[in-house]
Amino acid sequence: MNNFTYSIPTVIHFGREQLSHLSELKQSGDRVLLVYGGGSIKKSGLYDEAMRILTEAGLTVTELSGVEPNPRIESVRKGAELCRENNIDMVLAVGGGSSIDCAKVIAAGACYDGDPWDLVLDGGKIKAALPVYSVLTLSATGSEMDEFAVISDLTKNEKWGTGSPLVKPVMSVLDPSYTFTVSPKQTAAGTADMMSHTFENYFTNVKGAYLQASLCEAVLKTCIKYGPIALNDPENYEARANLMWAGSLAINGLLSGGAEVGWCVHPMEHELSAFYDITHGEGLAILTPVWMKFVLKKDPSKTAQLAAYGRNVWGLDGDDTAVAESAIDKTAEFFFKTMKMPANLRAVGITEKVHFEEMAKKAAAGSEGSFVPLTAEDIVSIFEAAF
Ligand code: NZQ
Ligand code: ZN
Repeated sequence: MNNFTYSIPTVIHFGREQLSHLSELKQSGDRVLLVYGGGSIKKSGLYDEAMRILTEAGLTVTELSGVEPNPRIESVRKGAELCRENNIDMVLAVGGGSSIDCAKVIAAGACYDGDPWDLVLDGGKIKAALPVYSVLTLSATGSEMDEFAVISDLTKNEKWGTGSPLVKPVMSVLDPSYTFTVSPKQTAAGTADMMSHTFENYFTNVKGAYLQASLCEAVLKTCIKYGPIALNDPENYEARANLMWAGSLAINGLLSGGAEVGWCVHPMEHELSAFYDITHGEGLAILTPVWMKFVLKKDPSKTAQLAAYGRNVWGLDGDDTAVAESAIDKTAEFFFKTMKMPANLRAVGITEKVHFEEMAKKAAAGSEGSFVPLTAEDIVSIFEAAF
């Protein structure tokens, strides 16, 4: 196991009826920027409830609505401007990962003199940020409890992840019942996203991180058990609660600390989203089994780790090669049959291969130090197989 530092200052209020904790935002000042998406929180009544608590606590609320899935830099710029114009003290996101990510870079952008895009390209330039708070409405990204944010500039076909401990939320409200209204498509995509975060940590070259690997297996089993229940019974609290907590734990450093490895499926997916604006979790589901097959072929010494996944997560028996291969089949079956997700790039509207080389070059640069090193040619062949 490697040395590591673990610090998660985010206070989590988990469960039903935790929204009243929003009154605690008062500790950060009087003026809050409320950041949210396309209106799901208005439909569900969460917006009215949050506004009531904030105003009763004496907070003045300025709003930035309409944050896009795959949040755009234009929204970040608008939000940072609103912070300056209104002397904002803190930023509150109510929504999914896109609203939270946007809020994080707004919070940093408000304290930065240049264009916030600089902060997306280089998280090291984040030297200060307004306090960030969140109310999570979609279990997926883990943004509610991590330091990352992913922002797109679709005019340049670019989508990059940035991060800084300064933008970790101060407090997040995690009420699983807020996810009852999440659509089947987003429920499946969210489950695939948290599974992918777990795979990215699980398939590591660090030896001896047994506890982290076992925790990864527990998170994966939780997603496999409860993803289908949430899909078929959207108001099942137990399923929504387990998925919500799994999403936070998958990326908050608990699984990765001491077992660090470069992520590689995410950089590939971010290129697909940058060029085609697809749903993040759907891209990950399509790429993951193809990547696993590629790993087995390129580096047979990884067979034992894929076999351990098959045995410990799927309960498979047999010799390493057979178990590793069946584990990949099980993964594909779970995403594409059980969770009813699109199974290839054409199914999410990517009907051309013209950008594969350009995307592969960028993804290769972004996946340094991964489980099996990937060249741009390797990634083109993964895109081809996913097509
Ligand atoms: O915009 P609204 O109207 O709120 O609707 C959203 C949106 O259309 C809807 N939704 C959210 N909560 C809902 C709901 N609909 C009904 N009921 C609810 N309770 O779902 C749609 C998708 O929302 P979005 O926030 O885009 O989804 P998600 O949470 O999956 O976030 C995806 C973004 O996060 C990035 C992705 O790349 C993508 O840009 N990621 C962020 C990470 C991080 N910060 O650590 C890591 C991830 O790997 C990921 O890259
Ligand atoms: Zn992700």
